[in-house]
Amino acid sequence: MTHAGPVAARRPEASETIVHVPLGERAYDIVVGRGVLQEAGPRIAALGARTAAIVTDAHVGPLYAETLERSLQAEGLRTSTLTLPPGEATKSYASLAETCDAVIGAKVERGDLVVALGGGVIGDLAGFAAAVVRRGVRFVQVPTTLLSQVDSSVGGKTGINSPHGKNLVGAFHQPNLVLADTALLDTLPAREMRAGYAEVAKYGLIDDERFFAWCEANWRRIVAGGPERDEAVARSCRAKAAVVVRDEREDGDRALLNLGHTFGHALERITAYDSARLVHGEGVAIGMNLAFRFSVSLGLCAAADAGRVERHLSEVGLPTRLSDVPGGCGTADDLLEAMTQDKKVKAGALTFILARGIGRSFIARTIEPGTVRAFLAEQLQA
Ligand code: NAD
Ligand code: GLY
Repeated sequence: MTHAGPVAARRPEASETIVHVPLGERAYDIVVGRGVLQEAGPRIAALGARTAAIVTDAHVGPLYAETLERSLQAEGLRTSTLTLPPGEATKSYASLAETCDAVIGAKVERGDLVVALGGGVIGDLAGFAAAVVRRGVRFVQVPTTLLSQVDSSVGGKTGINSPHGKNLVGAFHQPNLVLADTALLDTLPAREMRAGYAEVAKYGLIDDERFFAWCEANWRRIVAGGPERDEAVARSCRAKAAVVVRDEREDGDRALLNLGHTFGHALERITAYDSARLVHGEGVAIGMNLAFRFSVSLGLCAAADAGRVERHLSEVGLPTRLSDVPGGCGTADDLLEAMTQDKKVKAGALTFILARGIGRSFIARTIEPGTVRAFLAEQLQA
């Protein structure tokens, strides 16, 4: 696969932060700030491509595609734009085929670029198309949700869902540049903002109690916009980049980023990826709360810490309990069955990220299904 080195094509503007992801020949920059989209053309042109195949969705495209196209065309790049339906269902084999054919049809060659303009759904799908078209072309992430700015656009996990489960078909393929324009979040629906916030709080819960405390004090300003939002995105990107640099392919530590995801992915599967019922970040919020409660039930974590997690997520307006899933989430066996389809299963044992306290998460790889079933049964009755 072709990869450019670090780009840092322009000096950061006063209001911008550049987070460098030092992955050797796959190194790249994440540019965070308000108005970054207007400057996309020069930054992307500096990567040396002639053609940019933009992939977006029908909510984001009408808002931002023209700004991106104009900025790229002003630098002499040819552009094409594929607009897909919004929502998790777009991370499918059918959309992958459509995206690959659109990229090939746009005459994207090995030196050219796919540009993902959208949330995690578009980033994961377009990134995967970039990984497989011509055995790998370069790509740029322009994340437009809080979730994608703080998590999915960074780290190179790309993929689609299978009827068997989330993200079961995919590839590691690092972007060559990430442009996180925090002003684009001004148009994000409040529910999606809260869902993305769950992934911000996650970094504090994993290994940074001070960041969690900062989030507790500042979450309203993060949601409303302004310097705290930019700071939250930049600090989250730094936290994620540090983990990815230590363990790019999730042989170890990177699994910590899955805090809340074993429960969360099972809930997404049980709700048939129906965003009217549950979106990814909401599943993660419930999953993180369950991970802390499970840790308490195993005698690992103080109940006061789990209570603090639940209080904060609830205050933000996130769901935290199984009973918060609209339409219900089945029995303990249904949930367990959904978990065993997840990637985080090895030799019949489940992998969970558990916690000894806020900021003290760890990987537990040998959790017996029976222990999980009993915990879930108790939670379903609570
Ligand atoms: P999403 O991409 O579905 O976007 C959420 C909704 O917001 C969509 O309706 C979208 O059209 C709309 N939207 C996006 N930006 C907007 C804007 N600026 N203004 C108005 N509307 C806007 O969801 P998401 O939460 O961004 O991403 C979730 C996906 O990310 C899941 O599939 C999850 O598995 C994946 N993910 C991947 C990674 C990774 O490392 N690759 C990490 C976390 C999550
Ligand atoms: N969101 C999990 C990861 O990137 O590893």
